Amino acid sequence: MKSNILSEVFAELCESQTHFDSLLSRVNPSQKSKVAVLLGAFLRRPATIATHFGIELAPSAEEFWSASFIRMKKNQGIHQCFEALWDKWETIPNEGSVEDFPVEFIQKLEKDWGVEKTKAMARLLSQDPLTTIRFHRRAYENGALKPEIEAWLKEKDHPKSRAGNYTPNARIFRGFARVQRNDWFEKGYFEIQDEGSQFMSLYSLYPELFAGRLKDAPQTEKFAQTDVSSLPDLGPITVVDACSGAGGKTLALADGLKGKGRIYAYDVYERKVRSLKQRAERAQERNIQGVLVTPADYSSIQKFENTADVVLVDAPCSGYGVLRRNPDTKWPRKPFDEKKRDSEIPLPELQLKVLEAYSKYVKPEGRLVFGVCTFLKEESLEPVQAFLKNHSEFELQSEGYLGPYDTDGFFMASLKKRK
Ligand SMILES: C[S@@+](CC[C@H](N)C(=O)[O-])C[C@H]1O[C@@H](n2cnc3c(N)ncnc32)[C@H](O)[C@@H]1O
Repeated sequence: MKSNILSEVFAELCESQTHFDSLLSRVNPSQKSKVAVLLGAFLRRPATIATHFGIELAPSAEEFWSASFIRMKKNQGIHQCFEALWDKWETIPNEGSVEDFPVEFIQKLEKDWGVEKTKAMARLLSQDPLTTIRFHRRAYENGALKPEIEAWLKEKDHPKSRAGNYTPNARIFRGFARVQRNDWFEKGYFEIQDEGSQFMSLYSLYPELFAGRLKDAPQTEKFAQTDVSSLPDLGPITVVDACSGAGGKTLALADGLKGKGRIYAYDVYERKVRSLKQRAERAQERNIQGVLVTPADYSSIQKFENTADVVLVDAPCSGYGVLRRNPDTKWPRKPFDEKKRDSEIPLPELQLKVLEAYSKYVKPEGRLVFGVCTFLKEESLEPVQAFLKNHSEFELQSEGYLGPYDTDGFFMASLKKRK
């Protein structure tokens, strides 16, 4: 990967099962921003960019996933296309349309949310993502960020950072900000985490404080800022993060607990549990226990029945709410996706299964929180309804959507277990 970096990364993306973000992690740091900015923008809004720059695209989404699908009208190849785009990337529009998504995707959203809302969502989901960080409690002194951290924020690389809208410790940078390569990150003073994801962790711990932000449909316009600067002390409670992945929300939960209590973080992938442990180490969070589980075998859970104050199930989902960050995932990759789909049960069924399994942990008067990063009703409202139908020991406290305006898109619901 040298001079033809853009076309080489794009070709590899088309020819292997590797996803865009893991490919990016292999790109030389000096070239990473170029690839992230330009290729990311292209994957988010291919039709809009093609019209703007006189590029020809393959006519259907079926052909999209092929390096040969893109050429300039003058019959130049992919390399010339990307070089031409790079020369003018500052003029690339930062907003697309429904044309920038596979037809099936748009049809699904229209079925749930209608034509106008879908158009608004397509515009938002085709924009470049914001870079958001969450400051750890150690970054603060007397209720304000430490002066030396404030000074770092004011350095020339980050002139445009601003506070979050929904959570107290979020800081948002416009575009691709190089926040990772510095001492504050190395020493665990902050994590890179979307504000909606930060919000889900805080909503799990303090549903009464945060439920007011949730809406009964995806948010496509700006809302007023929330003032939640002081979070009450919850004491030494037990929290289960049932689908912890590499621990983004687990770490935010630990911060919310101010180092008290205990968090059991489960996932089915060893590499994710390993990464969670490393991140917990860096953040100096000592109350997290990462646990590897076998899918469909929940026997290890049984002995902990009725023990948790809070169980968060951040369930596997279609990920429609995070398409700005994973723009390649909206394009069906044949034949890879077909193979993958055959071995998996439908997502709504899996979500209900995981929710049922981990609900056993919740103690009487404890809470079960269900979350997904998508807007499809079949993966959000419906699994919750199906769960409540079979579990009269739980009652719904609150539910709703956050994003995709400003944050990634999420749905979350809080269910309380009766006495
Ligand atoms: C939406 S992701 C979670 C993201 C994570 N909470 C975070 O904040 O970064 C869903 C996770 O569920 C995990 N998963 C899938 N099936 C599971 C199961 N049966 N038990 C536990 N975790 C599971 C996946 O490996 C994936 O990491």
